[in-house]
Amino acid sequence: MTATGDIYSARKRLLFKSGSVISIEDYESHRKTPLLHPFEEYVTLVEKIAPNDLYQKVSELVEDDHSLRSIDQKFAQREVLSGCCKKIFQYPRLDEIVTLFFISRPQLFAQSLRVAYLAYVFGISSKYPQEKIEALFIAGLLHDIGLLFISPKITNKVGKLTGEEWAKIQLHPIIGYKMLRNVDNFPLECGRAVLDHHECVDGSGYCRNKKGDEIHWEALVVSIMDDVVAIYQNKLKPIGRNLSDLEPTILMNTHGYPRDILSGTLALVKCVEPSVVKRIDLQSLHVMVEYTYQQQLYINKFFDVLTTIDGQIKEINLAKDAQLLKDAWERLSMTITSSGINESSYMEWLLRLESEEDWIELYTEIEFTRLMLEEVIYEMNNFYNNVSGLIPKSKNDDLNNYKVFTHVYMATQRPTVPEMLQKYWDSHPYDEE
Ligand SMILES: [Fe+2]
Repeated sequence: MTATGDIYSARKRLLFKSGSVISIEDYESHRKTPLLHPFEEYVTLVEKIAPNDLYQKVSELVEDDHSLRSIDQKFAQREVLSGCCKKIFQYPRLDEIVTLFFISRPQLFAQSLRVAYLAYVFGISSKYPQEKIEALFIAGLLHDIGLLFISPKITNKVGKLTGEEWAKIQLHPIIGYKMLRNVDNFPLECGRAVLDHHECVDGSGYCRNKKGDEIHWEALVVSIMDDVVAIYQNKLKPIGRNLSDLEPTILMNTHGYPRDILSGTLALVKCVEPSVVKRIDLQSLHVMVEYTYQQQLYINKFFDVLTTIDGQIKEINLAKDAQLLKDAWERLSMTITSSGINESSYMEWLLRLESEEDWIELYTEIEFTRLMLEEVIYEMNNFYNNVSGLIPKSKNDDLNNYKVFTHVYMATQRPTVPEMLQKYWDSHPYDEE
């Protein structure tokens, strides 16, 4: 972007001379400095994204992806998508916000565009009117816009977050909501979806710990599509698997979701042909059984610790923060127990398939199990983040019980993917597209 006038800090220090080109790095380093005038008044973007560009970017994402192409062939309506892309630019300044989003966080932008795309096809498959579909698309694209104002050092961190870092991440729905509230006539339902996209139906989400039907419908759609995209992009696609393989994980993780949202989501993933393994390497398969067993031992360790803590916490007059953790644990516990993946009989059954040399059945089941375990571990990590964010701020004894869990969690190394297994996945043992 280019400065259209001299840019001064609030203390009248010259930051950029008129006409200078401001890179993303410059923008990042100065965006928290209080300025004499709002940043947007000082700059013009050299090239702003237009509706056609956005349409083109969605089309490219779909074209590049086998699963999205299958969904597109069944549900897409070009004129509806075109309307969605045009609608977003009808609001003042959104072209600049969308452009800044695209150039400053291209990966997050692409991820959000996939969420927007799935929210739009969900709207079509559910036969919603154009206006409702457009709202879902806009909310899908902008739900994480608040992350632009949180340091990439935190958002891109690979290891476990500190309590303070997690507390900062948890602010992004509020930051995004406030940012969009300043856009004239920005649709209320889109703003609410941005604000509530990390709430959970049982109250264990953030930022406002809303429950059940207190959470707006659009927020729940964006939330579920966000999860679908994250698991697909990070876990399934890199090893050549399809979106349809996500079905057991979706079913495991959506207790209490409205039926229409769940069935609409399943309708999307089910229209993708399941991935079929074309080449089973027996040695890798045995390693996969062992790795899955290690993952199971890992979650069972925390499951036992948390079950013990739960038994020690008295239900009467629980402080709000302790109640929050108790609810979150109950949800996680229900997810684990209802799927049965913590039971020894679950692994025994997989081992029986191994002894019976039923390789195809074993392979399919072990992969589903592994995905479910990884999802549980992800949720366990979120739970840990919640606990470690709340404990330093609280003096109540009930919350202190959870310290045992944080100590065990920090001290326990998650099983790493065996090298042989990673090589096998990298060799794409699934059907060619
Ligand atoms: Fe988010």
